[in-house]
Amino acid sequence: MSERAAIVTGSASGIGRAVVDRLVADGWQVLGVDLEEPDLKGAEGLGADLTTREGNKAAVDIALQHFGRIDLVVPNAGFQYVAPVEEFPEERWDALLAILLTSPFLLAKYSWEALRAAPEGGRFIPVASAHALAASPYKAGYVSAKHGVLGLVKTLALEGATDGITAAAVCPGYVRTPLVEKQIADQAKAHGISEDRVIEEVILTPHARKDLIEPSDVADVVAFLTTPAGRTFTGAPVTMDMGWTAR
Ligand SMILES: NC(=O)c1ccc[n+]([C@@H]2O[C@H](COP(=O)([O-])OP(=O)(O)OC[C@H]3O[C@@H](n4cnc5c(N)ncnc54)[C@H](O)[C@@H]3O)[C@@H](O)[C@H]2O)c1
Repeated sequence: MSERAAIVTGSASGIGRAVVDRLVADGWQVLGVDLEEPDLKGAEGLGADLTTREGNKAAVDIALQHFGRIDLVVPNAGFQYVAPVEEFPEERWDALLAILLTSPFLLAKYSWEALRAAPEGGRFIPVASAHALAASPYKAGYVSAKHGVLGLVKTLALEGATDGITAAAVCPGYVRTPLVEKQIADQAKAHGISEDRVIEEVILTPHARKDLIEPSDVADVVAFLTTPAGRTFTGAPVTMDMGWTAR
């Protein structure tokens, strides 16, 4: 049997890059997608804007051209925007919904036939967030989109059940990536406090354990969800949030 094939979005940085590295190490064929074509070791790269239908269609078409199959889709591309609701730019709301919710939907729609044909069962594993389960102030677009992607995962799990396709949402707390580093500065502005206080009093406040998650921790969980036992998590949030949602 040829190697299983995956699409991973947002793969130029942070969690996406770690997921690509882990899948490649595990013998997968991988197409990594990002705004600019990512330079990935052992994987194919594609530059595409995943806030567009064309970008998502291209990701699926190019994966099928390269590999002739798609066994796994990891929608992971995203960004954060922090502002009080009355100042929240409507254009940022639209962009957050487009990348965090509509892109996963389009990737599922366009790859569904290939996932159905995957010999070991297709897997759809978006990187959602603890913010799929709990809210924080000033993050209306992000929190709404992440709650939405969990709804998408539940729906796809039900639709895919008879076709061997499983869907699970990985829900990390704060991970040490450029996305979090940028939030420290933005939160300092929104709360009117220093960056040091943001790390202590905002970023790590929700974590029961006061340490950041590493991108490789998230990649390990994605890799586990691709194993036979991973199928049992279908329709579920796979929470890895340092105790955040235990409260
Ligand atoms: N870092 C965290 O603490 C954390 C926690 C929970 C969930 N997440 C989620 O994990 C995912 C990855 O986050 P990260 O922390 O690795 O961020 P990151 O900023 O390091 O990487 C995100 C990548 O997505 C790409 N991207 C953004 N918009 C795109 C578009 N329109 N088209 C194509 N690519 C686009 C960016 O270019 C970037 O390379 C996101 O969905 C994020 O919401 C992150």
